[in-house]
Amino acid sequence: MVLVVGATGKLGRAIVWRLSQDRVPVRALVRPASNVSVLLGSGAELVTGDLRNPESLQKACRGCTALITTAASVRSGFDLERIDRQGNLNLIESARRESLAHVVFTSTIGADAPDAPRIFRNKRFIEERLAASGLHYTILRPAGFMENLVPLVRWARRTGIAVIPRPGTTRTSYIAIRDIAEMARLVLARAPAGDSIIEFGGPEDLSMLDCMMLLEGVVGRRFRVARIPLAPLRWVGRMVRPFNQALDAVLEIVEFVERKGLRADRTFLSAYPITLTPFGGFLREQLGGG
Ligand SMILES: NC(=O)c1ccc[n+]([C@@H]2O[C@H](COP(=O)([O-])OP(=O)(O)OC[C@H]3O[C@@H](n4cnc5c(N)ncnc54)[C@H](OP(=O)(O)O)[C@@H]3O)[C@@H](O)[C@H]2O)c1
Repeated sequence: MVLVVGATGKLGRAIVWRLSQDRVPVRALVRPASNVSVLLGSGAELVTGDLRNPESLQKACRGCTALITTAASVRSGFDLERIDRQGNLNLIESARRESLAHVVFTSTIGADAPDAPRIFRNKRFIEERLAASGLHYTILRPAGFMENLVPLVRWARRTGIAVIPRPGTTRTSYIAIRDIAEMARLVLARAPAGDSIIEFGGPEDLSMLDCMMLLEGVVGRRFRVARIPLAPLRWVGRMVRPFNQALDAVLEIVEFVERKGLRADRTFLSAYPITLTPFGGFLREQLGGG
């Protein structure tokens, strides 16, 4: 039995469905207000819990051999300290108490950069605590999700204007969520060969300008590109911080990604042979219905 924490999230649900396809017994941790309809028909056993409630986590871990967590609070009640930090520590402790054989934690490329954004620094902190826990673990460090670009793509298509950060030339190995779910499946299917950190990404390294050019090719028309300098983005983040910490934290990531990029080499493919989705194909699928 694999416990999926974050099971109603974009990546978590893809993992639940991918494991279910292989008939792997799955237990999904959901919160009372989670949108569980996204798991309907997956066959997953639902268990109610919260990263802030250690008892619920220990109950959820009971009888499982492995767990994978994709949970993050940035989109729902952002609380870096109590959910992403203490909550993940609670989860590691519960896994330890219930002697789980394998814990998979979803981090990100860039987590170990010295100037990483706060959310990334917290990922690094949890990685270190997991490594010191005595549990067998795998840390997944994917690059940016292609799905993040969908609102921007739809906006460009609707208005004819592509709004991207300046300069828009830094490359990231954008990856489709289903490819990350496939990676998770492969990692969980193997007994943990050794504790490891796996950095991985999609088949191409693309800048935002590259992405917009690919979009132009897919929809067959040109867009006007509006490039927002990073300094005003940072300023907006600081201004909204007192009442919208999540937006501030996200803008911090946008700035970091445009400055540094999240690039993965493709050496992981020799150990994990995945057919990676190219961005053009992803766009055609997303925009197929208009
Ligand atoms: N987006 C990217 O480009 C990117 C890149 C690298 C790594 N990542 C990492 O990938 C992971 C998955 O991202 P995603 O887009 O799938 O996230 P998401 O859609 O925001 O999903 C987050 C999940 O965490 C759950 N959650 C939040 N607070 C919780 C709590 N207190 N207790 C239990 N569960 C809680 C949510 O439950 P509810 O449904 O109840 O809200 C939801 O199921 C994240 O850890 C993210 O940091 C993302």
